[in-house]
Amino acid sequence: MAKERWASRMGLVLAMAGNAVGLGNFLRFPAQAARNGGGAFLIPYLVALLVVGLPLIWVEWGMGRYGGQQGHHSAPGIFQSMGKSRLWKYLGVLGLWSCLVIASYYLYVETWCFAYAAHSYMGGFEVEAPGDFFNRLTGSVTNEVFAVSPWGMGLFAGCILLNVFILSKGLAKGIEIVSKIGMPLLIAFAAVLAVRGMFIEYNPADTSVVKASPLEGLNFLWQPRLDSLADPSVWLAAAGQIFFTLSIGMGTIHCYASYLRDQDDVVLTGASAGWTNEFCEVILGGTILLPISVAYLGLNQVVDMTAGGSGFGLGFLTMPTLFNNWGGFAPFAGFLWFGLLFFAAITSSLAMGQPIMAFLQSEFRMSREKSALAFGLMLLVLAVPVAIFHDSTFNADFDFWAGSFALVVFALFETILFAWVFGMKRGWTEINKGAEMRVPSFFYFIIKYVTPVFLLVILVGYIFQPEGKVREFDPVTQREREIDRGYRPFIDALLSGETPPEWRWSGSGMIGRLLHRDLSEPGPKALPEEKKFYENVKMVRTFDRLILVGAFLFLVALVWLAWQRRARAEGDVYDQ
Ligand code: PHE
Repeated sequence: MAKERWASRMGLVLAMAGNAVGLGNFLRFPAQAARNGGGAFLIPYLVALLVVGLPLIWVEWGMGRYGGQQGHHSAPGIFQSMGKSRLWKYLGVLGLWSCLVIASYYLYVETWCFAYAAHSYMGGFEVEAPGDFFNRLTGSVTNEVFAVSPWGMGLFAGCILLNVFILSKGLAKGIEIVSKIGMPLLIAFAAVLAVRGMFIEYNPADTSVVKASPLEGLNFLWQPRLDSLADPSVWLAAAGQIFFTLSIGMGTIHCYASYLRDQDDVVLTGASAGWTNEFCEVILGGTILLPISVAYLGLNQVVDMTAGGSGFGLGFLTMPTLFNNWGGFAPFAGFLWFGLLFFAAITSSLAMGQPIMAFLQSEFRMSREKSALAFGLMLLVLAVPVAIFHDSTFNADFDFWAGSFALVVFALFETILFAWVFGMKRGWTEINKGAEMRVPSFFYFIIKYVTPVFLLVILVGYIFQPEGKVREFDPVTQREREIDRGYRPFIDALLSGETPPEWRWSGSGMIGRLLHRDLSEPGPKALPEEKKFYENVKMVRTFDRLILVGAFLFLVALVWLAWQRRARAEGDVYDQ
């Protein structure tokens, strides 16, 4: 089997940047920022970038390149090549599991982007409300757990096939080419929208259409507010965003970096890919959704609409309507918006597929085509329920476990493995090998001490999270609103000596999730069908968690099998 390699350095950087730049940059980031106070979000975000983001980029690139030299291209093998205990390969399974689970709902959203881009281009949103189109696409019906739309499912299948096809072409002829086309287009599309958005004309004398200046949206994001530093919930959100957006803690970076040569630089190249992501997130991602929606809806409404933090509602249900204010340019604007989301998504979903393929190729000696197909089949098992139970927040639950929680667990293990088991000295030499720019030496201490402690704190925060609802006056939006501040009221009470509020688990933490605290319970006045829906959703939740556990065990079994076979093969060599 010919060895896979990246064809060019530029291609590698674009592929890595494509891996990182995704829906997270254009939908999740602005929504997270809006929900966590705009400028108040940015400071913890930048700190998290420095303390976990950059260090882990280097650690993961270094680990990947190291494992690759030993013939391992996915997390289980890479982990095992660095630690003696047999457990490492099983901890590495998380780096396959997250990819598979995230891919199952991410690809569904990718499908929507495609459908929305085509529908916009044909002027569809000038006659049909985005919500109606969405319901047609997903088969959504209020208060029903099943949502089936044959053509929507067909498109989804097509999108999965497209990914499988590209993956089967191999690194240089598949992922690299798609990234070389997709990334520049995405940046160009985003730039056009960002500039057009800034030209929305605001006239304070007539606010019937344009409610605020688009600059108000920018100000909201960029005006630094220090008050958030004492707010654990903002820290958690910021760290979570850094993880998701940089694709760290999921095994994708290891996989891409494992195709490097021994002496290829990882320091400068890794940092370049990381900075490209930050440019696409903070500059481009921060200059489209927020300014445009703030201009047409006003800041207060935008803050209310991003309470969930995913940006889905604004991005898919609101933006197409807002574009209609741009007259003849509207269909094209919609095409640019959803087109850029599609490119962002596909270069990321390919990155989720590659580790699983690489695992099958390097540990089971499967051919590229077969392993791509096998990935497609595994994906199908998860994707079909995602599409069917979409309305009962199946995907939101996957997103919590695989898209937030598991990343921190995986990152904590890999930091310990790298800095304490493999050894920081060796690790440092490994990262800086062949480097065109050495990592600044204070990162030695950050990686060894600060990153693991920070990760541990974040993890504890994710597990035990109380609901700390407070009514407070928001200086930015100039009104009182109820916000869940997590630990904040408890800390305040502790400091002032008052009795703390009653402890209630929050739905954004692990324990609260297990208790279904994130589902809104039907109130006393709820209609019978609303109560029934709530009960059904809880049942679906049990089902989705069985799938998650099943997928994990399946991958563990594959790893076990792979190492059994390896041991036997090595035994054979020994016998001869
Ligand atoms: N980083 C991607 C984003 O911002 C998401 C992603 C998750 C990519 C998992 C690869 C693997 O959307």
